[in-house]
This record gives sequence, C-alpha cells and structure tokens, in this order.
Amino acid sequence: MPLSNRCKPVPADQLLETLSSAVLVLDLKLHIVFLNPAAENLFEISKRQATGQYWPDLVSAGETLVNRLEAMTKARQPFTERELELHTATGHRMTVDCIVTPSGNEDLLLEIMQIDRHLRIAHEEHLLVQQQAARELLRGMAHEIKNPLGGLRGAAQLLESELQNDGLKEYTRVIIGEADRLSNLVDRMLGPNNVLENRMINIHQVLEHVRSLVEAESYPGLELQREYDPSIPDFLADSELLIQAVLNLVRNAAQAGAQKIILVSRTQRQFTIGHTRYKLVIRVDIVDDGPGIPSGMQEKIFYPMVTGRADGTGLGLSIAQSMINQHHGIIEFTSEPGQTVFTIYLPLGAENA
Ligand SMILES: Nc1ncnc2c1ncn2[C@@H]1O[C@H](COP(=O)(O)OP(=O)(O)OP(=O)(O)O)[C@@H](O)[C@H]1O
Ligand SMILES: [Mg+2]
Repeated sequence: MPLSNRCKPVPADQLLETLSSAVLVLDLKLHIVFLNPAAENLFEISKRQATGQYWPDLVSAGETLVNRLEAMTKARQPFTERELELHTATGHRMTVDCIVTPSGNEDLLLEIMQIDRHLRIAHEEHLLVQQQAARELLRGMAHEIKNPLGGLRGAAQLLESELQNDGLKEYTRVIIGEADRLSNLVDRMLGPNNVLENRMINIHQVLEHVRSLVEAESYPGLELQREYDPSIPDFLADSELLIQAVLNLVRNAAQAGAQKIILVSRTQRQFTIGHTRYKLVIRVDIVDDGPGIPSGMQEKIFYPMVTGRADGTGLGLSIAQSMINQHHGIIEFTSEPGQTVFTIYLPLGAENA
C-alpha cells in the first residue's frame, strides 16, 4: 500500500483541540496569541479573555521562567523546565513540566503538562481499588449479620407475645429495639444495590432537593448558598442516588460546624476519571468554612467505618463515593482549616468518553 494511503493528514487545529497537553503560543512580548482547550481548562480562562494578555500576569510562574522566556525571545534556544510550580489567577497551585520551543520567526510555543494531576490520577486509582475492596468486605459482613439478626428479632417477638409479666417484656423490647438499630446500620453497610434507575435529570434538581432537606434539618447559624451554571444540560442518572451522595457530603460539612456552605455547579472539559478521558464532565463543589479534616485523617476518610465524630458510623463518604463511582464519576476533596471543598465529577454521558 502506498504511504500516502496509510497516513492521512489531520488538520492541525483539530489535533490541538483534542490534545490533552496545554499548548500556548506567545509573541515576543510574552502576550498570548493562541491557547488550546486544554490550556483554557488548566488556567481556568477562556480563549477570548486570554488572547492578548501578558502571560506572566495570568499565571505566576516565578522569575526564572519569565527570565528564560525573555532570553529566548533573543537567543531562540528551546528549553525544558521540569517540576515548575504555577499559580493561576484563580488561586490554584499546580506542578507542571514546560517545554518551550521557538515557533515561526516571532512566536514561542509552550507545551505544559500538569504532572501533579498525573501523579494524582495514579494515586486515586490505587485508593479507589482499596476502598472498593474494603467496601466488599463490609458488604459481605453485613450479609452475614442480616440473616441471624432477623431470626433474633422474630424470636424476641414470639417470646414477648408469650410473656405475661410487663417487667419481663421490657427486656424483649430492648432486644427488638437494638435488633432494629443494628438492622438499619447493616442496611447502610450494604450500601446501594447495583441497579441504577436512570432517567434524564438535571443536576440542579438534585442540588435543590438536598438544599431543602438540609435547610429543614436547621443547623444553628448555617447559611446555604448556591452558585449554579444554568447552562448545564440534562443527563442520564439515578437522581435518588445522587441526592443521597450530595446529602452525605453537605451533612458532613454541617455536622463539622460550618457556618457557610456553598453549592457550586460547573462543567469541565477534558477530564480524566480512572482510565477514561471525558470531553465534558459536570463538576459540583461543596465548599464549607468549617474546621477542615485533620491531616492525619485525610488519606482514610473514604474508607468505611472511619469517623471523626463521636456518633458517626463512618459510612457516609464511602457510600457517597460508591454511588458516584456507579455513575462513572469520582469524589475528590481538598481541606484546610476554614476551607474544605468536596468535588463530585460526573461524566455528561458515557458516550462523550
Ligand atoms: N466537610 C467536612 N469537614 C470536616 N470534617 C469532615 C468533613 N467531611 C467529612 N469529615 C470527616 O470525615 C469523617 C468521615 O465522614 P463520613 O461521612 O464517612 O462518616 P460520618 O459522618 O462520621 O458518619 P456517617 O456519615 O456514617 O453518619 C467524619 O466523621 C469527619 O470527621
Ligand atoms: Mg457523614
């Protein structure tokens, strides 16, 4: 077969659009001439806002990089900066590898790979596998407890009906009451079943439902705010499960003593969950101003039975993660005193993978 038949030319624009690395072109004064969607995503800025801006104003990249870029406008020698720390205008910190090459006569081409994200994806996958194993173990135990518990409760009920002495009935009532309490716990340990009841829903129905539930629980001094992106399209999901997952996260923030919780909805382009890269995902941030999660606990909080509360069962986050995983999504968080953000990523239809 002739070579020309095997290698079809692909338009450069199309390649840049789908590339997962951020690509920027700067002019000799370091003003942005072009950026691809991955760069828009990384720096959280639209092409329209970014074009013409002085790049070092947009991200604080440290003097070294700016000096090297300025030197390069004269010497035009390509260079690579590894493990560079960038701060975006929106306050995000990231570690990147940056390759700079001269492009044409006038421009500089920057390729930027966010390496902390790659490290994080690998780390996340590892954690998800471990969390799933822990959940399976717990489900197995819950199954084993459930059957004898039913027998125990039934026998106590029979015994109660035979007893004449009210004083003795008090004991059977304790058995029945405790069996019911354990049965509720075991049902929570079993978690959601594997069948999703999917229909077209809007993420804001879910968020508004949770908001009204949490408002009805009237936590003292708690204010619930929302920042929604109304353009987010409907998608196929099990709204009951999503409500439960979001509720678990919002309740945690309220129980931790937050005075303000903000529900934020956004879309994000080109996002990787597990092994799959999605063109478009919904992102829901639950931002609270509470005391944060102690650093020693952060690695473990998605494991079942891990709790920092005296009356907690430690199942809420594990269940929420499992419900979001069933929708091919993931929950992540960052936490420091005064600001904890739990973020739910949900792909907008698996077909956009
Ligand atoms: N927004 C938050 N701020 C501070 N700590 C949090 C937050 N979210 C979770 N945590 C910590 O993580 C722990 C685990 O949460 P998880 O929801 O899994 O269990 P729980 O709330 O203790 O019990 P359950 O949800 O089963 O009633 C909590 O006990 C709390 O210590
Ligand atoms: Mg909880």
